[in-house]
Amino acid sequence: MDAQGATTVFLALCIFCFLFFTNWRKRSGNGKLPPGPVSFPIVGNALQLKTKDLSRTLRKLSETYGPVFTVHFGSERVVALHGYEAVKEALIDRADEFAARGHMPIGDKFNKGLGIIFSNGERWKQLRRFALTTLRNFGMGKRSIEIQIQEEAQYLVKKLSSTQKMPFDPTFLLSCAVSNIICSIVFGKRHNYEDRKFLTLMGLMNSIAHDMSSHWGQLYQLFPSLMDVLPGPHKKILKNVDELKEFISEEVKKHQDSLDPSSPQDIIDCFLTKMEQDKHNGESEFHLENLITTTFDLFIAGTETTSTTLRYGLLILLKYPEIQEKVQKEIDLVIGRTQSACMANRSQMPYTDAVVHEIQRFIAFVPLALPHSVSQDTPFRQYVIPQGTTIYPILSSVLHDSKEFPNPEQFNPEHFLNENGTFRTSNFFVPFSAGKRICLGEGLARMEIFLVLVTILQNFTLKPVIDPKEIDISPQMSGLNNIPKPYQLCALPR
Ligand code: HEM
Ligand SMILES: *[C@@H]1O[C@H](CO)[C@@H](O)[C@H](O)[C@H]1NC(C)=O
Ligand SMILES: *[C@@H]1O[C@H](CO)[C@@H](O)[C@H](O)[C@H]1NC(C)=O
Repeated sequence: MDAQGATTVFLALCIFCFLFFTNWRKRSGNGKLPPGPVSFPIVGNALQLKTKDLSRTLRKLSETYGPVFTVHFGSERVVALHGYEAVKEALIDRADEFAARGHMPIGDKFNKGLGIIFSNGERWKQLRRFALTTLRNFGMGKRSIEIQIQEEAQYLVKKLSSTQKMPFDPTFLLSCAVSNIICSIVFGKRHNYEDRKFLTLMGLMNSIAHDMSSHWGQLYQLFPSLMDVLPGPHKKILKNVDELKEFISEEVKKHQDSLDPSSPQDIIDCFLTKMEQDKHNGESEFHLENLITTTFDLFIAGTETTSTTLRYGLLILLKYPEIQEKVQKEIDLVIGRTQSACMANRSQMPYTDAVVHEIQRFIAFVPLALPHSVSQDTPFRQYVIPQGTTIYPILSSVLHDSKEFPNPEQFNPEHFLNENGTFRTSNFFVPFSAGKRICLGEGLARMEIFLVLVTILQNFTLKPVIDPKEIDISPQMSGLNNIPKPYQLCALPR
């Protein structure tokens, strides 16, 4: 054996001993940690976790180790909860213990613990409560959110008509519509789809969402300190975030100049009013930085989520023209062709309601939710989860549970219908997660998806540019989000 060969063997032995030792220590030291695959130093289980389809890999692990298991995302120890029972037990039955937001390197980096999504403790409580009540009350003063969505849907219809039956990619128009709804609520105004500034804003958001789900985004999640010193597209995320926040602070300045505390016109006005009331309270969470980050949170959480769900939904309807037709029949029956769809119509439309639910179930847009955490050593089943451990509730495992939804990988509205055709609810419907951290925009998002989808199908029949059988509705990327493959369609006026 030559010198080089000997060195290699020696190194391999060292690594082996190190691995053995670290794993042995983990098992004996805190033997009550949930079981999981042997992990390697530094990279953890990164080599086993296929970033292209994380939820499938996690399902395989749950088959071996059970519904509660430990994996290492890079050097970070993570406890994954797989299946309805485990997710419900943690997020609902023991909501307080599992309410903390877990470590998420990229989010922590751009929000610095401010705002709602990546904050904890008293700050999170106050800002979340503020956002929930202002969203709920936003019938006050101005028009209700429902009317704003109906109006935006009509702008969208105009734009769709102008495609003149030619093929187009719907991404841009759907983003404009959804983004405008958030703009109305937050800034008190919508923008024209041609507005340069608005287009820049949307470009930024689109790019942030895309980059976060990409390989680079996932690598950042796994190896933050290494990625910090490496060049690459992940650097762009932070630059884009800063630019978006800059846009928001300009809007805030304009609002400060024109504020009338007696009649707040939007969320920024409400926040500024709170800031004014609390200005002598040094402990108050209502300060400028939290205003900008909270606004940023509503944008980032409220735009791509809803618009991608809609875009994915339209692709599914292209694949199943018979389902599209049944929805249109129901629309014609309940609403007709001329009146605007409203939320009160939904209870009369079980089939459409089932299709909307099935779209969200099927795509499982946020397959692993966002990371949670436990703020102290937490006994869970026969294990103890150490304080600060990151917890991933695997929402896709609940949404795709074959006991609740036979053939879960199949798109089938019957999953949400009783035999007599009435709508069937399910506790397994958790696309917005559950418990104390449940999506704050759930009500808004469900209103948007229903009204926009119904308005589109009331006015157009959607046709694919290829044979429906050839349409692939599996995700193109599956990281933080499940993103559909790019596609084109034609909108034929009815
Ligand atoms: C189809 C659309 C949407 C989906 C699938 C979705 C899904 C989710 C999920 C899975 C979470 C993580 C929950 C957890 O930590 O367990 C979340 C959090 C959140 N969502 Fe949504 N969301 C959508 C739309 C919206 C909209 C329209 C808004 C804006 C008003 C919004 C605002 C938020 C915020 C602020 C959080 C953080 C809540 C917290 O940490 O307390 N989301 N969402
Ligand atoms: C459907 O909505 C329209 C308004 O858009 C309303 O006039 C009608 O009564 C509703 N129909 C049902 C069955 O709720
Ligand atoms: C339809 O079936 C469900 C459950 O199977 C039942 O709860 C409901 O009352 C039925 N509705 C009608 C109108 O028959």
